[in-house]
This record gives sequence, C-alpha cells and structure tokens, in this order.
Amino acid sequence: MTYETLLLETRGRVAIITLNRPQALNALNSTVLAEMRQLLGELQADDGIGAVVLTGSEKAFAAGADIKEMQSLEFVDAYRADLFSGWDDVAGFRKPMIAAVSGFALGGGCELAMMCDFIIAAKTAKFGQPEITLGVIPGMGGTQRLTRAVGKAKAMDLCLTGRLMDAHEAESAGLVARVVDQERLLDEAVAAAEKIASFSQTAVGMVKETVSRAFEQTLSEGLRFERRLFHSLFATQDQKEGMAAFTEKRKPVFKNR
Ligand code: CAA
Repeated sequence: MTYETLLLETRGRVAIITLNRPQALNALNSTVLAEMRQLLGELQADDGIGAVVLTGSEKAFAAGADIKEMQSLEFVDAYRADLFSGWDDVAGFRKPMIAAVSGFALGGGCELAMMCDFIIAAKTAKFGQPEITLGVIPGMGGTQRLTRAVGKAKAMDLCLTGRLMDAHEAESAGLVARVVDQERLLDEAVAAAEKIASFSQTAVGMVKETVSRAFEQTLSEGLRFERRLFHSLFATQDQKEGMAAFTEKRKPVFKNR
C-alpha cells in the first residue's frame, strides 16, 4: 500500500515511518491522521514488526497541526467532529514507537512526538507549543503530556509564551531521552528499535503498558497494576528462558510465548 503523506521502510523487525509533506513542513492534516491510523493498524497486526521509528525531514519533524485546514472551522464543527480525537489511536498503538526528531517539532508535532514512547533528538531539534500565538491552546495532548514530562514550570513557560526549546534544554528537562548529531539520528533510533524488537515482545508490551500507566493513575494504583503484570509474566515461557539463560551464562532465545 502506498500513502500520500507517509513513507514506509522496513529494516528487519523495525518499521520506519517518515512524515512526508515537505511543502508544509509535515503539518498534520486529516490525510496524515487517516494514513497514520491505517498504517499503524497494519503494523500492529504484523508479527514481523517489533518496533517502529517515526521521523520527519531534516528541517521539520512536524510544524504542527495544519493551520490552513483548521482556520475556518467554527466551534460547533470542531466539537461535533471531536477534532483530534483520532490521534488517540496513534497514542494507543501497542508496539514501542520511537520519535526521531530533527528540526521543528511544534504544536501537534511536539504532541505527536510525545505520543511516542520516547524521543531521540538531533542537536538541531526545536520543540514548542506555539498555539498561544495562534489564539488557541494545544489540542493533541500538549498541556497534559508536556506537563507530565517536564513539570509545571517549564510547561507553563512553553505553552504561555510559545517560545521554542532546543534539544539540549529538552533533554535536561526530561522531554528527550537522547540527543545525537543530525547525521546519526536515524541510525541511533533504528538501533534502539532493533534492540527492543529483539526482546520478548510480551515483556516489551508490558513495559510499555506499565510505564504509560504511571502517567494515568495514582502511584499506589500504578504500583499494584505493575506488580500484577509482573506476576503474570511467570506464566510465560520467555520468563523461564530469560532467567535460565542468565543462570546458565548464555544468550536467551525468546519465542514470544
Ligand atoms: N500548518 C500549515 N502549513 C504550515 C505549518 C502548519 N502548522 N507550518 C508551516 N507551514 C507551511 C507554511 O505555511 C509554508 O507554506 P507556503 O510555502 O505555502 O507559504 C511552508 O510550510 C514553509 O513554512 P515557512 O515558510 O513558514 O518556513 P520557515 O522556515 O520560515 O518557518 C516555522 C518555519 C517557524 C516552523 C513556521 O512555519 C511556523 O511558525 N509554523 C507554524 C508553527 C505552529 O504554529 N504550529 C502550531 C500549529 S497549531 C496546532 O498544532 C494545534 C494543536 O495543538 C494540535
């Protein structure tokens, strides 16, 4: 299947999705959303894929939701269509997804990067929630995910002033997991994704689910949820294999069972 706004490349068990609307700095319009939902649905069902890297161009990961598509909307249109709710399917993708960010990740672009499990940024990356400069507020999760990632002070600073944050500041603030040279960005992200895809996919899925839960509920509920899933892993062959391999000082062979 070919897409109008996305490119897909597969390297072993890793799928690389590249946002591809260069004329609009990868602004996220309804076609991008529809195609992302379609493609992620296919990757979800594909047992040959263990992890995904989502990237953009050197100049822009994505410069936000498509302002030109939104500008003439009325409140009732936005409300009745529940505008942007379709992005919940992207955030709900169950396999690990790494954002490899170079250049601008603004507004919906920053929010899309934050829907991924972690962000690897090129030194050139710039993050921001400039919606305030357009007379609106973030609408794809920015006020919530950014606040959880960087804390109230910096989230307020970015959302209220609309200023951009460079890769170094984003890493110190906890938004970004690693910063690398631009030329190394994709290789670094793919290597991380390959590593993840080599582990037991049952355990990988559970790490994603439990760490994500930490953002959605109280600590005591999160700890209990984590512990119950931890217990359940003792029903898998991969746990037996992983622990046996450790004691036998050999590499484990996981079968995803
Ligand atoms: N929507 C639609 N088109 C966009 C766009 C966007 N978010 N961002 C850039 N473009 C378009 C520009 O209009 C321009 O198109 P034309 O050549 O047809 O004029 C093209 O991409 C190139 O952009 P610029 O000429 O502006 O490039 P630049 O290098 O001078 O500036 C930039 C780069 C600072 C990122 C600037 O493009 C910009 O400020 N973009 C908008 C950023 C923004 O406000 N994002 C938030 C959007 S709202 C949102 O995301 C809501 C939400 O929470 C989901």
